Amino acid sequence: MAEHIKVLVSEEEVDKRIRELGEQISKDYAGKEVHLICVLKGGVFFMCELAKRITVPVSMDFMSVSSYGDDTKSSGVVRIAKDLDEPLEGKDVLIVEDIIDSGRTLSYLMKVLQERKPASMRLCTLLDKPDRRVKMVDVDYTGFNIPDEFVVGYGLDYAQKYRNLPFIGVVEGVE
Ligand code: IMP
Ligand code: MG
Repeated sequence: MAEHIKVLVSEEEVDKRIRELGEQISKDYAGKEVHLICVLKGGVFFMCELAKRITVPVSMDFMSVSSYGDDTKSSGVVRIAKDLDEPLEGKDVLIVEDIIDSGRTLSYLMKVLQERKPASMRLCTLLDKPDRRVKMVDVDYTGFNIPDEFVVGYGLDYAQKYRNLPFIGVVEGVE
């Protein structure tokens, strides 16, 4: 069977939810500045849209951590491929992720970043697959809880494809 994509969360639903998250974050960080950390590459589409909906002052930095190869299964190995440019000390940090699956990537990343002494650190993820959790992570803001299916779009890839889809879809027809 050929590979095809079934829509799980439409473009309209994603946009609406990101607006809501932006409003919530703007309220929660009232009177402060928020330092967004994008986990590349998947988090980039979500972070750009989210940042546009936040009304308190925003700064941004980027890092790349990988626990996945070109595969649908976690290797369990977490590697910092690109570190942040700026120190975190004294900043109100909000990590922006595309998806939390086993939780391995984020539990490792949050431990590493906490050592850099931010004033606060929270986590915002567009998608969460709670059924798949192996490592506990405290998620402060969640776009959507989704079932245990491999999804693509809005930054998420399958073998580096489909990141640019403006909706969240499930890849079907994969062996
Ligand atoms: P975790 O360490 O298992 O939580 O995996 C986190 C990373 O795995 C995410 O940031 C994604 O890059 C990738 N990932 C997990 N589930 C999916 C999926 O359904 N589609 C695409 N990438 C995924
Ligand atoms: Mg990711």
